[in-house]
Amino acid sequence: MITPRVILITGTSRGIGRGLADYYLEKGDIVCGCSRAPASFEHPAYTHFELDVSDESAVIAMVRTVVRKQGKIDGLLNNAGIASMNHALLSTAATAQSIFATNFHGTFLFCREVAKAMVRRKTGRIVNFATVATPLRLEGESLYAASKAAVESFTQVLARELGPAGVTVNAIGPTPVPTDLIKSVPKAKMDALLARQAIQRFGAISDVINVVDFFLSPQSDFVTGQVIYLGGVTG
Ligand SMILES: NC(=O)c1ccc[n+]([C@@H]2O[C@H](COP(=O)([O-])OP(=O)(O)OC[C@H]3O[C@@H](n4cnc5c(N)ncnc54)[C@H](OP(=O)(O)O)[C@@H]3O)[C@@H](O)[C@H]2O)c1
Repeated sequence: MITPRVILITGTSRGIGRGLADYYLEKGDIVCGCSRAPASFEHPAYTHFELDVSDESAVIAMVRTVVRKQGKIDGLLNNAGIASMNHALLSTAATAQSIFATNFHGTFLFCREVAKAMVRRKTGRIVNFATVATPLRLEGESLYAASKAAVESFTQVLARELGPAGVTVNAIGPTPVPTDLIKSVPKAKMDALLARQAIQRFGAISDVINVVDFFLSPQSDFVTGQVIYLGGVTG
């Protein structure tokens, strides 16, 4: 009998993270997820942890619990993220702090804790979440783009550090996908953004799943340190 994979996904209460959780549960994987809000769904193979990804002791406790109960973590999807649209000169220090706390610090903490368990088994897949806002140098998104640039850089260095241990670390950079994250972006700004893509449409959650699936696949054990942007945006 094949043992199911154990996939840890952050930010599963809605949006892309919820779509990823539904997809991997449907495939027969065991999924452990988290968000600050309580679980928005139930499934026999799903366990929810209510936490903030920037809370170091909560992240350590979650990863320890998952490893103790499931015995392993095969895949980590660092999906939890927040955005803030504002001109840099109008942005507050508190906004900068909270964007970096969730997007970078949260990703760093989960990578560090989960990688310890993966290295022990000499196998594992980590997928971090970037954005096309970084390579497009998107005006009005300076803090968000910078926090995700930090995620990209961390992904590339961590890939080198974990390569010898059989753990791959890659990132996906979605284009706009219609979720709560982008609902406050004005239409004119969104149209201008889509016009800068080679393929000028919104992304779908299935577009994200396609790339994540590729990174998670056993055959992708020679693919690490890569950032794949959707929509034909180049780095
Ligand atoms: N949608 C897009 O257009 C787009 C484009 C490029 C990249 N991305 C990236 O894709 C990822 C998912 O985005 P999305 O559109 O699905 O966003 P979303 O709909 O706003 O969902 C974000 C998820 O992350 C959780 N979350 C946020 N901050 C958290 C924290 N501090 N601790 C724990 N959980 C937290 C949220 O739950 P709680 O609020 O309950 O904590 C929610 O479940 C993000 O990393 C985002 O940057 C999205």
